[in-house]
Amino acid sequence: MQTPTVLVVDYGAQYAQLIARRVREADVYSEIVPASTPVSEIVRREPAAVVLSGGPASVYAEGAPAVDPALFETGIPVFGMCYGFQAMARALGGEVSPDGTREYGRTEIALSGTPGTLHDGLPARHPVWMSHGDSVTAAPQGFTVTASSDRVAVAAFEDTGRRLAGVQYHPEVGHSPHGQEVLRRFLHDVAGITPGWTTASIIDETVEAIRAQVGDGHAICGLSGGVDSAVAAALVQRAIGDRLTCVFVDHGLLRAGEREQVEKDFVAATGAKLHTVDAADRFLDALAGVTDPEEKRKIIGREFIRVFEAATAEVVADHHVGFLVQGTLYPDVVESGGGDGTATIKSHHNVGGLPDDIEFALVEPLRSLFKDEVRTVGAELRLPEVIVRRQPFPGPGLGIRIIGEVTHDRLETLRAADAIAREELTAAGLDHEIWQCPVVLLADVRSVGVQGDGRTYGHPIVLRPVSSEDAMTADWTRLPYEVLERISTRVTNEVAEVNRVVLDVTSKPPGTIEWE
Ligand code: XMP
Repeated sequence: MQTPTVLVVDYGAQYAQLIARRVREADVYSEIVPASTPVSEIVRREPAAVVLSGGPASVYAEGAPAVDPALFETGIPVFGMCYGFQAMARALGGEVSPDGTREYGRTEIALSGTPGTLHDGLPARHPVWMSHGDSVTAAPQGFTVTASSDRVAVAAFEDTGRRLAGVQYHPEVGHSPHGQEVLRRFLHDVAGITPGWTTASIIDETVEAIRAQVGDGHAICGLSGGVDSAVAAALVQRAIGDRLTCVFVDHGLLRAGEREQVEKDFVAATGAKLHTVDAADRFLDALAGVTDPEEKRKIIGREFIRVFEAATAEVVADHHVGFLVQGTLYPDVVESGGGDGTATIKSHHNVGGLPDDIEFALVEPLRSLFKDEVRTVGAELRLPEVIVRRQPFPGPGLGIRIIGEVTHDRLETLRAADAIAREELTAAGLDHEIWQCPVVLLADVRSVGVQGDGRTYGHPIVLRPVSSEDAMTADWTRLPYEVLERISTRVTNEVAEVNRVVLDVTSKPPGTIEWE
């Protein structure tokens, strides 16, 4: 049976991915489609429901996308949110007034005498998150108005007979405390979808799809030490067992313990066949004398591909390998599908990116998953906690966290300082509050210090703790002073070359998260 799918129509604001995630949190599978998708295409995909997302401030704005009224003749349940609510009202013959009735931020709504299915039993007045210019002044015929606010008469409406509903606010954000419940009611009660998108179902369906794709063929997978490649490999391992070979290139730029996590813990948890390539010397040789960050990235990327290809050739020598496993996630798929392309600020070639002329078919078991789903699947597959919870770590690793030339000794210094910082952050229970905390060695800077009776002339390390939703923007995390103090004391005592610990208090923009 086909998995019931909700299509989230993306009106171009930043909300569509969040809505899609919230739909899945209600145990219903969702996908995002662009606003330009014709109704005929929507019908062809047989969605269990359609959600119209937020978008531009006004349906009257130049170029604002309209909803084709034909959508409402198809019988497919539709939920409009914010802009989607107004576009829906307009398409169905309601009134949207460009009267400049703006509401931004936290707003109270009041339920009407008939709160309908979506708001039944919720507090008579409760806060929601608003962000709109125009307002709906009259609901379309057949709809019941279920809520209003001080400024707008129609803040929510529904026609449960036709399985159509909408809200002026953003139910998907945390500032609308009942929003998830309202979305859940739309999906389960109004649209009548049986919830079934659970971690167990994700694993079963993915394993089945991998088996169907790979048949009795062989596959290889490059492991990075991070969560995506580990979960992708574990799923493929479950599907085809020993016909998967994992390749782990140790480029010598990893943090303390990461190689062991892959070689011991990952293998113990999955039983996967692992081929490790010890390439640290080769990478160090290639990086000798190089200080330019982009140059470092290019060298690391280039060497990685060469080493990986050589390792693959060895595996392929044993038997024909037709498939390459990659940990592509759903946001990558959505973003590369319709984006206008943002300026390249750093060349983020993930180590693991391979040239176009590779002759493998790709197996991408995470292609429809969000990161939080990948972590849940990883936990369910009993992968090591350190891998499943690992914070983002750049492919070029510590190579771009040493400002200056990368050498063996500098790597040892940075690894030691980084291990202490991570230990203390974990011990303080802060792993969930920070997005990541690069530790950076300013290898070309020395400053005078005093330790015991002696004068030192050591290097500073920089702590760069950041909070973020998606790494596109970030704020520096206000770490407790006691934690900073412990890190500083330990690093300056335990790491010989370091005599200063400094804290980066720059947001992104203008700073990037990494220093290089
Ligand atoms: P920036 O420094 O651009 O980083 O604010 C944003 C996110 O990307 C990670 N990052 C990289 N990841 N290869 C990667 O795979 C890279 O070259 C690279 N550079 C930065 C960074 O850790 C952060 O999560």
